[in-house]
Order: sequence, then C-alpha cells, then structure tokens
Amino acid sequence: MTSPSGADFVVVANRLPVDRVIHDDGTEDWRTSPGGLVTALEPVMRANDGAWVGWHGAPDEKLEPFVSDDLALVPVELSADEIAEYYEGFSNATLWPLYHDVVAHPEFHREWWETYKMINQRFADRAAAVANEGATVWIQDYQLSLAPKMLRELRPDLRIGYFLHIPFPPAELFRQLPWRSEILEGMLGADLVGFQLPGGANNFVELVRRMLRLSVHRHVVTMPDGREVRAQAYPISIDAQGFADLAATPQVRARAEEIRRDLGDPEHLVLGIDRLDYTKGLRQRLRAFGELIGEGSLSATDAVFLQVANPSRERVQEYRRLRDDIDMLVGRLNGNIGTIGHPPITYLHTSYPREEMAAMYVAADVMMVTPLRDGMNLVAKEFVACRDDNSGALVLSEFAGAARELKQAYLVNPYDINGLKAGLMRAINDTPAAKTKRMRAMRKQVFDHDIDHWASSFLADLERR
Ligand code: F6P
Repeated sequence: MTSPSGADFVVVANRLPVDRVIHDDGTEDWRTSPGGLVTALEPVMRANDGAWVGWHGAPDEKLEPFVSDDLALVPVELSADEIAEYYEGFSNATLWPLYHDVVAHPEFHREWWETYKMINQRFADRAAAVANEGATVWIQDYQLSLAPKMLRELRPDLRIGYFLHIPFPPAELFRQLPWRSEILEGMLGADLVGFQLPGGANNFVELVRRMLRLSVHRHVVTMPDGREVRAQAYPISIDAQGFADLAATPQVRARAEEIRRDLGDPEHLVLGIDRLDYTKGLRQRLRAFGELIGEGSLSATDAVFLQVANPSRERVQEYRRLRDDIDMLVGRLNGNIGTIGHPPITYLHTSYPREEMAAMYVAADVMMVTPLRDGMNLVAKEFVACRDDNSGALVLSEFAGAARELKQAYLVNPYDINGLKAGLMRAINDTPAAKTKRMRAMRKQVFDHDIDHWASSFLADLERR
C-alpha cells in the first residue's frame, strides 16, 4: 500500500497512532506509537482496508495521506491557534476538568467552543471523504464529541461508533456546560455510544432524557427520526500478553534488578507512573508517603518512592501550575525527611519506552495508582500484567474506572491522606500469601478482558446496530 484510498473501517481520533522520527541524516520517518488502541485496531484495520484519521501532533503543517507500517493514515492539520483553542482550550481546559469531577476549574470560552465545532467538522469531513459506502467509522474520545452527528449528516450510509475514554459526569456537573445540548446531540450521531463504566452510560441517558426529552428504554435512545442509539459500557484494557511477554524478557528482568540496585536496594520500592495531570492525585500520594517516613512508620533507608510523571499538555496553565507544585513538594519532602544518600522520593519528569516501564513494574513492591478521578487507568492493568510470579501489591483509587474490575487491589479514597497511608501500609505489611491471592485474581481479570476483548465486543455490538 502506498497511499490510502477508500476504507471500509475508519478510526477517527484526535491523534494519529504514529510518532515522527528524525534520523541522523536529517530524513524523517514515522513509527507506530506503542498505544493499546492501535495494537487492538491494527488487525481490524488490516482485514478491512482500514484508515486512521487524526492529527499528527505538529502545528501548521498540512500533510497528504500516507501509509506507515501498512497503516493508512489521514492527517488532519491544525494551526497553532486551533491547537490553543480546540485542543488545549475546549478539550483540555473545559471538557477535561468538567468530566473529571471539576477537580480543576473548567473554563468556558465562546471562542474555544467555536473552534471546537470547526475542528470537529474538519475531522468529520476528512472521515466522510475516506469512508467507502456503508463503512464502519469509530470515533474516539472527548475531543471529538460533535463529530458523530456531523459525520452522519454528511454520510447517513455509515455505521458510526463513538467511545468516550474519560468519565462521563453526572447531570449536576455536566449541566454547567453552556453547550450541553449540542454535546449530547453530537454524541447521539453515533449508533453505539461506548463508556468506560455503566455509571457513565447511566449519566448520559439520564441527561438525554431530561435535557433533550428523548425517550430512552433500557439504554436505547429513540431519536426524533426513529433512529435508535444504544449507550453501553465497554471497559478498555491493555495488550496483557504483550506486556507479560515483555516483562519476562531477560533484558527487562536484568533492568529491573538494576533499578532496585540504583535505588539502594530498598526493602520497599513503591512506584507511581502517571501523566503529570491534576486528576492523578499526586499531591496527596506524595504527602501520604512523606508523612509515613516523617512519623517513622517507614524508614528513609528502607523505603523508596519512585514517581515517574510523563510530561503532558504543558501549555495549559493548570498543568504548568501542577508541575511547579510537584517540584516544590518533592523538594520540600526530600529536604525534610531525607538523609545523606537517601532521598526517599525519586521523582522523574519524563516519558519512558514500554521496556523501561515494564522493568519498573517488575522492580516495584507496591504500585500506587491513586487518581482523584480516572476513566479507567491502564497503568494499574499494566502493572498487574507484568507480575507473572503473582507478587507485588496494587494500591488503587476507588475513583479509577479500573477499581470496578480490580477489586482485589488495596482500594483507597485518594482524598483521605490517612486512608492512603493505611492502604499503603497494608499493601506493604500483608502476608505474601494474601498478596499472591489478590494478584492472581487481578491477573485473571486482566488477561480475560484484554484490549482485543474490548475492541471486538464494541465492534460486534456496533455491527449489530
Ligand atoms: O484518555 C484520555 C486522553 O486524552 C486520550 O484521548 C489521549 O490519547 C491521552 O489521554 C493523552 O492525551 P494527549 O493526547 O492530550 O496528550
């Protein structure tokens, strides 16, 4: 394949599943990014002349459709101003905080909304141009909630699915949005609307009933023209076997040992890996660990907290503020509780390849995943997938979607610092047999419900619509 033509299966997502690589000789190339979504959808795309419509990540650059690794890619261009208003603005400073329990204050700006509409239309136009007659189109996430309706208006022949990767909020919060009806109507352009949890699907149909006054029966909405739209939960997952295989390689095992050694061979290695986002509960988690050391429940020579924070959305003000706060908090805590050669918190503001993440998952004794709100949280599942000897303990927030499936984790309320401390101490002090029992049950869940299971159940239900 050299250039994409018509496709029978089209994925539409804010980002294309590729990263640009620049070689030593200055030539450019694309490499498939290691995300779960592309891993799951690649086989479906190959079997169905698939194409992926998305932004390639750079401003003001118009690229022609191209093929990379046999994947047909259709780039959507965004100018610097459009990125500021559609991506950083409406997507990540309006919808993101609103949908995450308003843990940061959502900003409502009419100009952002206008740009959001315009860009959604651009994605819909691009999808309409590439989809064959009767094709299936799967639109992803909150950046594109208007695109399903826009696409249906252009191409009523298509089968359209939409999946929201983040939480869908209750009416009390969602109703703040000045453009609430338009967003609901946009999503209802799909035949099947997928959510991470049943609670999100319930919130959605309740709002549709109350605000749009449409009839809803057993999560099926009847539109004014008689068309039916189903809302249902499909908890997303990971390529569990892929992670397990990676974690089992001698290189990753050796690297895991090296990481422990470099951290001073602590008795308890506690790990956190998150995008640097205010929804992830980093402040509370760090404070809880700091207090445990400060009061002597854990010793600075025995316990190390390795926190990796992947840089994210760095031009959005709330994210900049968070970065400063965390820098300061880590500095203060290490200054207060560290001893010579033993800063108890190792904080790394960077991203790592999958191999390094797998080595960290293998190296850790306890993984802390304590978001204030999270649609799912795949880090929790990746950690579990990497623990093939059933060792290790997961401390997990009740407010992560993953808590619904990983019931055997040490569940905590991430707002409750004393509760976080107690949860971490339980995870550390529980007997090896108790930890094994919990991990075994969680591994079964993750392997039985992997990313293929997620994609195939959604697509099978979509084909039935
Ligand atoms: O899951 C939420 C999400 O916004 C995805 O849509 C996105 O791929 C990921 O987080 C990373 O965010 P961003 O594309 O803003 O860097």
